[in-house]
Amino acid sequence: MELNGKVVVITGASRGIGRALSLALAKSGCGLLLTALESDELTSISEYLTANLGASVAFMPADLTNESDRRRLLDWIGTREQPPDILINNAGAGRFGRFASCDWRDVEQMIDLDIRAPVLLTRELIPILSTRPEAKIVIISSTVSRLPYPGLAVYGAAKGFLSSLSESLACELAETNVSILCFHPGFTNTPFMASAAMDMSAVPKFFIRSPEAVAARIVRAIKNDAVWAYSDFGCRFGAMVAALLPSRIRTRLFRNLFWRLPHEE
Ligand SMILES: NC(=O)c1ccc[n+]([C@@H]2O[C@H](COP(=O)([O-])OP(=O)(O)OC[C@H]3O[C@@H](n4cnc5c(N)ncnc54)[C@H](OP(=O)(O)O)[C@@H]3O)[C@@H](O)[C@H]2O)c1
Repeated sequence: MELNGKVVVITGASRGIGRALSLALAKSGCGLLLTALESDELTSISEYLTANLGASVAFMPADLTNESDRRRLLDWIGTREQPPDILINNAGAGRFGRFASCDWRDVEQMIDLDIRAPVLLTRELIPILSTRPEAKIVIISSTVSRLPYPGLAVYGAAKGFLSSLSESLACELAETNVSILCFHPGFTNTPFMASAAMDMSAVPKFFIRSPEAVAARIVRAIKNDAVWAYSDFGCRFGAMVAALLPSRIRTRLFRNLFWRLPHEE
């Protein structure tokens, strides 16, 4: 896909991978419709992209866990003079802890942000994207999407849901001008882990990528019309090998692979 001149909606654009993607896509000549929870960072990144890269940027803060905010965002996108060609469902969050004792509000927030929001945005924007000569929906999943994720069980399951959704949509939309990319980041150095209250000290630095490196891979995957992509070969290989293991071995292997779960209270 040629990126120059395309209009891209990016959720979670204020920091981390979304912010790096905004920069990379502006450099590729895209117009941007950005959204995130808070407005301050959106204002500053929009000003930066406009002043330094001459990009056409508009933004709207919206809480994607909130139904009326999600609808408000869709209305805003629907009334833009130039409709979007690409939707990037990037916003996501997790909350580390044991499933049985975690706060129910955290579970609901993860389901709302990591599942409900991308499903709604994708479904509601397909009719608009279908009017474009060439369009794409990017879904940011995770390398762990089909692996056990102890301490982030609901988050991991949400990513599994997104990867499965992406493959089904890729089949359903195969004959249309709308294509699908499901992207699977590995550990990325963003505020995500701190927000999730995770201790990353046991994760070897070797596994951790910068958000800029991950964003560059996403841009490359968009340009190459990939359907399924990872941050790097290690993520692809690790996910593939782990998925081939019998579940009994996989659950044993992943029980304490990167971190220890908090003790039961
Ligand atoms: N970092 C990793 O290691 C990693 C690994 C695999 C997959 N991923 C996935 O990659 C994507 C981006 O992750 P990241 O590491 O860049 O995360 P991040 O740095 O924590 O950024 C999350 C983004 O989502 C937005 N957001 C959070 N809650 C929101 C809400 N209720 N409504 C609207 N927007 C909200 C945040 O906006 P505010 O700044 O305004 O709060 C922020 O822009 C996520 O889908 C994540 O699951 C990340």
